[in-house]
Amino acid sequence: MADIAYPHLFQPIRIGAVEIRNRLYMTAHGLGYAVPDPEMPGYSIPSDRHIAYYEERARGGIGLIIQESTVPHPSSQGSAFGYQTATVAAAFAEKNVPHFARVAEAVHRHGAKLFLQLWHGGHHADPRWHPGGPKRPLLSASDVPAVEAYAIPRAASIEEIRSIVDGFAQSARNAKAAGYDGIEIQGAHSALVEQFLSPFYNKRDDAYGGSAQKRLRFAFELLEAVRGAVGPSLAVGFRLNTDELLPGGLSDEDCADVARRLDETGLVDFLDLDIGTMHTAPLMIAGSYVPKLPAEDFIAAVRPAINRAVVLGCPGRMNDPADAERLVAEGKMDMVGAARAHIAEPEFARLAQAGRPEKIRPCIACNHCLEGILSGVACVINPATGREAAWGVQSFAAAVPRKRVVVIGAGPAGLEAARVAALRGHEVRLIDRRDHIGGAQSLMATLPGREVVDDVLRWYERELGDLGVALHLNEEARADAIAALQPDAVVIATGARFERTGVTGFIAAPIPGWDRPFVFTPEQILEAEAECGDRVIVLDEEGQSTAAGIAERLATGGAKVDIVTRWQLVAPRLQGSGQFAWVLTRLYAQGVTLRPNHYLKEIGDRRVTLFNIFSNEETEIGDVTAVVLVGAKRREDDLAAALRDKVAEIHLVGDAAAPRSLFEAGYEGHRAARLI
Ligand SMILES: Cc1cc2nc3c(=O)[nH]c(=O)nc-3n(C[C@H](O)[C@H](O)[C@H](O)COP(=O)(O)O)c2cc1C
Ligand code: SF4
Repeated sequence: MADIAYPHLFQPIRIGAVEIRNRLYMTAHGLGYAVPDPEMPGYSIPSDRHIAYYEERARGGIGLIIQESTVPHPSSQGSAFGYQTATVAAAFAEKNVPHFARVAEAVHRHGAKLFLQLWHGGHHADPRWHPGGPKRPLLSASDVPAVEAYAIPRAASIEEIRSIVDGFAQSARNAKAAGYDGIEIQGAHSALVEQFLSPFYNKRDDAYGGSAQKRLRFAFELLEAVRGAVGPSLAVGFRLNTDELLPGGLSDEDCADVARRLDETGLVDFLDLDIGTMHTAPLMIAGSYVPKLPAEDFIAAVRPAINRAVVLGCPGRMNDPADAERLVAEGKMDMVGAARAHIAEPEFARLAQAGRPEKIRPCIACNHCLEGILSGVACVINPATGREAAWGVQSFAAAVPRKRVVVIGAGPAGLEAARVAALRGHEVRLIDRRDHIGGAQSLMATLPGREVVDDVLRWYERELGDLGVALHLNEEARADAIAALQPDAVVIATGARFERTGVTGFIAAPIPGWDRPFVFTPEQILEAEAECGDRVIVLDEEGQSTAAGIAERLATGGAKVDIVTRWQLVAPRLQGSGQFAWVLTRLYAQGVTLRPNHYLKEIGDRRVTLFNIFSNEETEIGDVTAVVLVGAKRREDDLAAALRDKVAEIHLVGDAAAPRSLFEAGYEGHRAARLI
């Protein structure tokens, strides 16, 4: 055992009758890959993308996959996160068994086990009368409104409860027929089961509400029905919250009590513990602003209540097998779950088992994947996620002929281009004028809460080293010098820089006063460490983390900072990822003043004039020591024209092609390298 990397992690374990090869499992995560079902409008079926995605991770050595939320009853047509969508597959329909069976076969081909998660959203379910049509009434335990939308449900009647229980049983029967190994009933994340369990949501005074035992009745009925449907050969369990963190909700002790009572039935084979309701979604899927493993202590507190069932735990932001090993070794959980670690790195388990943790591509908790839950999950640091059939681990056939490739710019696009070109066998030289890799991302990594970006840059550094990419830093790429290298192909990934003049999509003209000496771009703050003084105005047009990060950093250093933005919210483009909640919390904590619906009219002598974009009312702020313009970006692509007649094959990628985000940069770098 001593010679094995992570000896506790790679011990097999039994969940009920199901033998699992190691202690790593993928927690359920909605992928948005299901396709509309032509036979049942408004509902969906698993797709080829699902098969490729799950198969890649099964091949990558994971022990257990809990397949994303599926629909157990027609009254829960919507997605896990409450938005109306046709991208969650319907488990309740018997005719869908062959579609689900294809997923099970693909996973089993590689020795992993597969459970299906059944999620009734209750007041988050958002069913429609027809696709894209008016909403149907929402059901819940009571008429307590949902938190994330103006959705007011009505209490399910006894007949409706019976029908839903039947739906779960039928779904479980279908999963068994499709070859699945287990069923997870979603009892956390404010799903319908939790709406019954929790006194915060459940205000009933009939047999399903009132005492803790009565609130558990719905869960017991589901458990008996599902167990009855699948018998002893499949594992059956619940996903459970460990603390609702809601006034009047289930405390950690209450959650332990729920776990104990379910465990004592002897009908559950596993309990899958994590943290978070829809009220605390930014903790449930913790972004980079939250320390790693936020649920560890919550899970450890509930675990002693469980004596029979196997304890699965999702500590949150787990992307290092050493952490997983410790959690099992310390007995905090029997299996360690993660979603995003496996979205980013399909070979997490295999690389850990091989003792190569440094080769695991580390999830940076940016939550871009979460934004794809409706349209198709993708990963900013792994362009192959969701495209496994074409770009998967096994797709790197040697390129013929082998070419000499020069990549200019070691930002995210250039790094990925160099990596993929080298993986395909090309001879690759990567040039950057800076003394380090990362481009704009290395600057972003200096922002508070974004330090983790550096982990992925270090990963690229190691990978490029292993692949023999010739890295030339501190080197200005000049057209003649590049041409003299006689490359067969050049990838131009020289990125973009923020506009000095403050031009934005809102007013496509320079902001008067932009050229005053106390007006800076983000690069001047982050790269050149410009002196900002104690009264700073930050204009945010980008709506992501740049302005907020700079504001927080300067405010932490003692400056009084205002963020001015024409958007209704600071950092609006972090809303889909849930990151904005942490960003705003941190800004308020540092006393940053937020001025939404405002824009900069003019920068005067140590003063600025703002205006409200709706009322035109003006506000003057004096004694200003610095203005930071986070406006549009201008691409840096001069080399493309200079090389046009000198090199046969040129690929312009990422911000150098048109300024966008890290996501597009990595994708285009990858794509270009596949075309060479
Ligand atoms: C894109 C995405 C979709 C998710 N969908 C589900 C889901 O369908 N069911 C569920 O129980 N949890 C879902 N989750 C939550 C994860 O299972 C997990 O609890 C959470 O991401 C924290 O784990 P991590 O830090 O390892 O990602 C989802 C998470 C992500 C990122
Ligand atoms: S998109 Fe971001 S959070 Fe999601 S898996 Fe990739 S790196 Fe992690």
